[in-house]
Amino acid sequence: MTGKLRIGMSLSPTWLSGEAWRRPDSGVNNLFSPEFYVDIAQRAEAAKLDFVFRPDTLFLNPAALETGPGFASLDPTLLLAAIAKETSHIGLLSTVSTTFLPPYVVARQLMSLHWLSGGRAGWNIVTALDGNRNFGQQHMPPADQRYARAAEFTEVVRALWDSFPNDALRIDRAAGRFADPAQVQPINHQGAHFTVEGPLNLPSYKDARVPLVQAGASGPGRDFAASVSDAIFASTPDMQAAIDLRKDLRDRAAGIGRSAGDIRLLPGLSLYLAPTRKEARELFLDTHARNTRAQRIANVLAMTGLDLTEWPGDRPITAKDLPPAPENPRSRTHSNLLRRMIERDAPTPDALLERPEVIGSAHWQVIGTVGDAVDAIRQWAEAGAIDGFVCVPGGSVTSMHLSLDEVIPALSDLGLFRRDYTATTLLGLLTEE
Ligand SMILES: Cc1cc2nc3c(=O)[nH]c(=O)nc-3n(C[C@H](O)[C@H](O)[C@H](O)COP(=O)(O)O)c2cc1C
Repeated sequence: MTGKLRIGMSLSPTWLSGEAWRRPDSGVNNLFSPEFYVDIAQRAEAAKLDFVFRPDTLFLNPAALETGPGFASLDPTLLLAAIAKETSHIGLLSTVSTTFLPPYVVARQLMSLHWLSGGRAGWNIVTALDGNRNFGQQHMPPADQRYARAAEFTEVVRALWDSFPNDALRIDRAAGRFADPAQVQPINHQGAHFTVEGPLNLPSYKDARVPLVQAGASGPGRDFAASVSDAIFASTPDMQAAIDLRKDLRDRAAGIGRSAGDIRLLPGLSLYLAPTRKEARELFLDTHARNTRAQRIANVLAMTGLDLTEWPGDRPITAKDLPPAPENPRSRTHSNLLRRMIERDAPTPDALLERPEVIGSAHWQVIGTVGDAVDAIRQWAEAGAIDGFVCVPGGSVTSMHLSLDEVIPALSDLGLFRRDYTATTLLGLLTEE
C-alpha cells in the first residue's frame, strides 16, 4: 500500500438487510427521512472518512418488499444534496447509471451537487443491473453495449463540465460584464448514442473537478474504469482477488498513459461486528434466517448456470461440473467471482450455499470483533491488496456504529488512516498524500 487508506461509508443501509430491519433499534421507520442518513453522514464525518456513498437502481421488485425494503430508496443525488447542508468536509458520492438517463441532465445534476456541497460531489458510474422496462426497452442491453454507451456518456458529461469553465466568470460590476461568452462554447457532440450541443447551463466549480468512481469489473468494465476513474468500487471476497484486480487495474491504467496510482481499488467491506466472535456469527445467521435453500439454489443457477436442485449434498462441485458461463448474466463480475471460487475450492453444495457470495453479496467480509476487522484491514493493506474500502456494515445498527466509532479510529491509531481533514474537496481527499 502507498499512503493512507481512502475510506467510504455506504448510505445504503446494508445493516438493515435480511432480518436486521426488524430489530427494535433499526430505525427503519425513518428509512425515507433525511435524518436517518444525516446521522450516518455526520458520524462518518466525525470519523474523518473520505466519503459517504449511495448505490442506486432504477427499478423495484414488489415481491421483495414482503420481507424487507429491498431497493426502495430516495434519489441518491437529491439525498446527498440534503446531506451537503448538514456536513462540511465529507465527500458525497452519488450513483448514476449511464444506461438510461440523458447525459445533459446528469452533468447538470452532479455539477449542481458539486456547487451545493462546496466541491464534495463524486460520481459512481454504473451501467445498471435492471430497469430497462422503465425506459421503454424490452431487454437489458448486453454488458459490452452498456460499456460502449458508458464511455460515450462519460465523455459527453466531462465535455459539458468543461464547456462553461469557471474562468469564464468575470462578475465585473464596474464594467457590467458577468462572463466572457467566448469561453463558453458548445461541445457539438455527435456520437453513436448521443447528440448534444451544449454548453452546460452551469459553470464548473472553481476548486476541483468531480471525481469519478466505477462499479463493474468484467474485462470491458476494467478497461473503462482504467480509462476514466479515480477509483473502482469492487467486490473482492478474498485477498488474492483484490491483489489480482488491483494489479490488473493499475497495469491497464499505465498501459494507456495514466499513472498506475491514478486508479484506487476500494472493495466493499461487509462487517458483522459484535463483542465476541460467537455473537457476531449468530448475528450473521439471524440476519439470513429466512433466506431459503431454494433461493440460494436459484442464485447459484442465475450466476453460474449450475442447477443444484438434485445435487447430492456431500458431492463436491468441481470446475468440470460448471456449465459454460451464462451469456448475459446481470453482473459478469459476480458470476465470474462465484465460478472462480468453485474452481478453486471445489465446495460441496452445503458449503457453497453458506457462502456470502450466494447468500448476500460477494464483498470482502469480516464476521467477528472490532479487533478482527482491524487485523483484516491491516493485513490487506500491508499486502498491497487495497487502496481503501467502502464500509457496508451488516446485521445491526451496532455493526454500523462500531465500524465508525471503533474500527476507523483504530486504523488512525495504526497510522493507516487520517486523523483529521486536510482537504475540503472530494478530489483533494482522494489525492492527498
Ligand atoms: C461492486 C459493484 C457495485 C455495483 N453497484 C451498482 C449500483 O449501485 N447500481 C447499479 O445499477 N449497478 C451496480 N452495479 C452493476 C454494474 O454497474 C454493472 O452494470 C454490472 O456489474 C455489469 O458489469 P460487469 O459485467 O463489468 O460486472 C455494481 C456492480 C458491482 C460489481
